[in-house]
Amino acid sequence: MTNQNHLWKTNKLICGDNLEELAKLPKESVDLIYIDPPFFSHKQDEQGRWYADVLPVDVWEIPAVINVSKERVGYPTQKPEALLRKIIEASSNKGDVVADFFCGCGTAIAIAQQLGRRWVGTDISPTAIKIIQKRLKQFLGVVEGVNYVVIGMPTTVEEVKKLEPFEFQNWVVIDKMRANLNRKKVGDMGLDGYYPRSVLTEEAGIQVKQSDGVGRNVVDNFETALKRAGYKKGYIVAFSFSKGAYEEVARIKNKEGLEIKLITIEELLTKKKPII
Ligand SMILES: C[S@@+](CC[C@H](N)C(=O)[O-])C[C@H]1O[C@@H](n2cnc3c(N)ncnc32)[C@H](O)[C@@H]1O
Repeated sequence: MTNQNHLWKTNKLICGDNLEELAKLPKESVDLIYIDPPFFSHKQDEQGRWYADVLPVDVWEIPAVINVSKERVGYPTQKPEALLRKIIEASSNKGDVVADFFCGCGTAIAIAQQLGRRWVGTDISPTAIKIIQKRLKQFLGVVEGVNYVVIGMPTTVEEVKKLEPFEFQNWVVIDKMRANLNRKKVGDMGLDGYYPRSVLTEEAGIQVKQSDGVGRNVVDNFETALKRAGYKKGYIVAFSFSKGAYEEVARIKNKEGLEIKLITIEELLTKKKPII
């Protein structure tokens, strides 16, 4: 922020509401600090908290988003809403466009929306875009098609082939299968995802292969993984399967009573509902 006002050069923390200079400053140059019931201030905000005006300093103390924060959405680099609120309020007006080209889980987007700004967010990760969509809907009731459009999510087999392995797995398990990721890297017994037991679903395992012509050996290994996990059902998702894979699935069903379904990416792209 640039400001020619001489008060910016004093490098002093000015506290209290009796300073005439404060009244002369542009609103975005003045911060609030919250205090216990008044000892030098008689100002209250709309929520009844006591505050004093101070000139901002060059260090903002904003608590990080920790595991138990209400605003946490589970994205590793999530920034605090208070930080983005401060930046957006100080640098834009209602109706302006806020753009974040590496928007992650969309903290800037969510705050821009709350503050009446228009916004553009881009991120290379489809997982991030999905998290933002969920965040906007869950916390702000803002939905795709009504309040915003989404451009560039993978919609063809060729585009899905280009996804990074981690993105591919998330896209299959969370987005398309509506299942849970298996987050345990050790001892995951060959399962990338799973359906927990619920009223609608029985327990089942999911394995994801970002390859073509997945064969009999993959089905055999998956059978072992299902048995170890105690599941009677499972899904293998890949671009295509060999004839031997389908034969092995039939053999396992007859001999072991285990139900394994082979699902192609093409099917996931064309089916409107999750495959369970
Ligand atoms: C530090 S994070 C952003 C965090 C964000 N401020 C928040 O609150 O969640 C950086 C983001 O940049 C994205 N990214 C990395 N390379 C990119 C690229 N070439 N184009 C667009 N996004 C990219 C990553 O996927 C990541 O989500």
